Amino acid sequence: MENKKIVVGNLKSTMNIEDVSKYLQVINKEIASKEVIICPSSIYIPYFLKKNYQVGLQNIFLDEGGPYTGEITPTQAVSLEIRYAIVGHSERRIHLNETDEIINKKIVAAINKNMYVILCIGETLEEKEMLRTDMVIRRQLVNALNGLSIDMLYNVIIAYEPVWAIGTNNIPSIKEIEKTVEYIKNVVKQISGYEDIKVLYGGSVNEHNVKELNKINNISGFLVGGASTKADSFLKIIDEVIQK
Ligand code: PGA
Repeated sequence: MENKKIVVGNLKSTMNIEDVSKYLQVINKEIASKEVIICPSSIYIPYFLKKNYQVGLQNIFLDEGGPYTGEITPTQAVSLEIRYAIVGHSERRIHLNETDEIINKKIVAAINKNMYVILCIGETLEEKEMLRTDMVIRRQLVNALNGLSIDMLYNVIIAYEPVWAIGTNNIPSIKEIEKTVEYIKNVVKQISGYEDIKVLYGGSVNEHNVKELNKINNISGFLVGGASTKADSFLKIIDEVIQK
């Protein structure tokens, strides 16, 4: 992975097949960058493959062996040349009871197949108000990255996504993001010795605020939810961060 900025589009579970075909008509023409990673609902992945951008999973299974109804394994992903997976998104932590330990196993399983993981971490509003952001982030990182060698960390991208900023149009100040990104890099360095971890920001990134956000000097790119499902908005974000 080169040292270029990346933009990840997390399409979540919002689009139906008509939305997907309209969306693809625009983005397949306009996006020509391997630094763009689009993560559609799994059922639509075949429509997104073999284009001029990368495709990622929104989740991945933590094991290879055995029959696990409904899950997608790293081996299956790699067989379609899918090299990226989002892991530990707060929506999965909150609604599907994903723990740090489960997330750790998913990361190890994916990296063992030489995939890259986009590990989401971030505090809730309550944790922020109780001044526990650093503590929460440290815990999430220590647990999720437990047992990873430096070589394995090369395949990890962190996405700092404050839970209270997701889908709300509220974002932290530039200074707050910068400070937390620095903190994340320091924690990773302390626990592993790895100094080059990429950190993305996610949470209400859109075509209007991306210019300011992109000025943050230690940021490696963005994880975009809602705005990535609107082709025009997503293209503007990509133009600002990558294609300019
Ligand atoms: P949002 O979502 O951009 O809609 O806030 C980001 C995410 O959940 O990854």
